[in-house]
Amino acid sequence: MKVFIDTANLDEIREASDLGLLDGVTTNPTLLSREVERTGMKPDKILKNICSMVDGPISAEVVSLKANGIVEEGKQLSKIAKNICIKIPMLKEGVKATKKLSNLGIMVNMTLVFSVNQALLAAKAGASFISPFIGRLDDIGHTGMDIVRDIVTVFENYDISTQVIVASIRHPLHVTEAALAGADISTIPFKVIDKMFKHPLTDIGIERFLADWKKVTN
Ligand code: E4P
Repeated sequence: MKVFIDTANLDEIREASDLGLLDGVTTNPTLLSREVERTGMKPDKILKNICSMVDGPISAEVVSLKANGIVEEGKQLSKIAKNICIKIPMLKEGVKATKKLSNLGIMVNMTLVFSVNQALLAAKAGASFISPFIGRLDDIGHTGMDIVRDIVTVFENYDISTQVIVASIRHPLHVTEAALAGADISTIPFKVIDKMFKHPLTDIGIERFLADWKKVTN
């Protein structure tokens, strides 16, 4: 499973990228606006920086809601760098725009996917990626990961090449479950990536090894 980071924070992206583990980045208007406020940089400049830091798809989201506007915005965003992927919300107009942009060879990540049918429509329109939001489904009392399993099964049934990005990840168990479900990608917030490294027995183990070594070397 590929690992994307779900942030626009340049410091977090740099730190995660230094680990040598990053395959891509997803941003959204909320995440990008936070980074604009934090750094005072313009959104395009932030995206350009991200694209130069990570060699993989970098999702930049449109804010237009009409197909023509989405296509125009998508074309503009795709000029930022060759690894920009246009993130489009799951709407009829968004699906129309996805078809047009994917016909132009521009990668699309269809976002705010909450059902198998939405995933099927996005794939049919030519989206390179679809993003089911599992944490937000969990928040309203559903089991978000169920739709990931179903989407993976349906895509396998029909040999659909659209990749499934598990999004709205809240904790390390979501990542494990995404991998068990056969998702192509998990897009993970920085603080969750950090938690994935940790296990108390690892810390205790290191402490004991060092203490034992010290006994014979001092
Ligand atoms: C994914 O592409 C989105 O940016 C993100 O995962 C949304 O997560 P949230 O539900 O924590 O806002």
